[in-house]
Amino acid sequence: MSILSDPNAPLFSTELISPTVLSQLPQGYSCRPIRRSDYHAGFLDVLRVLTTVGDVSEQKWNERYDWMSRRNDEYFLICIIDDSGRIVGTGALVVERKFIHDLGLVGHIEDIAVAKDQQGKKLGLRIIQALDFVAEKVGCYKTILDCSEANEGFYVKCGFKRAGLEMAHYY
Ligand code: ACO
Repeated sequence: MSILSDPNAPLFSTELISPTVLSQLPQGYSCRPIRRSDYHAGFLDVLRVLTTVGDVSEQKWNERYDWMSRRNDEYFLICIIDDSGRIVGTGALVVERKFIHDLGLVGHIEDIAVAKDQQGKKLGLRIIQALDFVAEKVGCYKTILDCSEANEGFYVKCGFKRAGLEMAHYY
């Protein structure tokens, strides 16, 4: 079965999941790359704590997932699952390839979300640590992210420091 047709195939190699993070999760919880079948495991519901997700049909999900899957040296989406297999947290690392800095790779951390009833258990911290691990393994020289002032303290606890200023142009 090709990777695109197996709904339970991981988006990227599970070897990129930090063993340290796995060992530090609460009992029964795990961390893994997302799978196409995660449409049915609560992935989009967790993202709803972050922002508007919209009404994404399974077909549209599959199309987007397969697009990412063909770029799985660039899109690294992970999830945390509880002991029942429900997704309780997620985060993404997008790896940008540059000409500058000797063809440097920059990691962009995006769309971090922990289910409301699961916040405060260090799951957010573990997600960031897991994405940091991927970034370092694939050769990024730095990882950056944008966040609200309200979340600055969380990212400081995750080892990030304020650098620069975010600007946006919406279309
Ligand atoms: N401000 C300051 N400190 C914080 C905050 C905050 N907003 N949130 C958590 N912390 C602290 C915790 O107290 C903890 O500190 P400790 O080590 O002293 O105990 C440490 O940060 C780690 O906290 P976690 O338990 O790992 O945090 P949690 O699992 O609740 O996840 C998160 C934090 C991801 C921000 C969660 O609250 C969430 O999903 N919020 C809604 C969505 C969101 O805002 N996502 C981030 C968007 S930015 C982006 O995606 C790049």
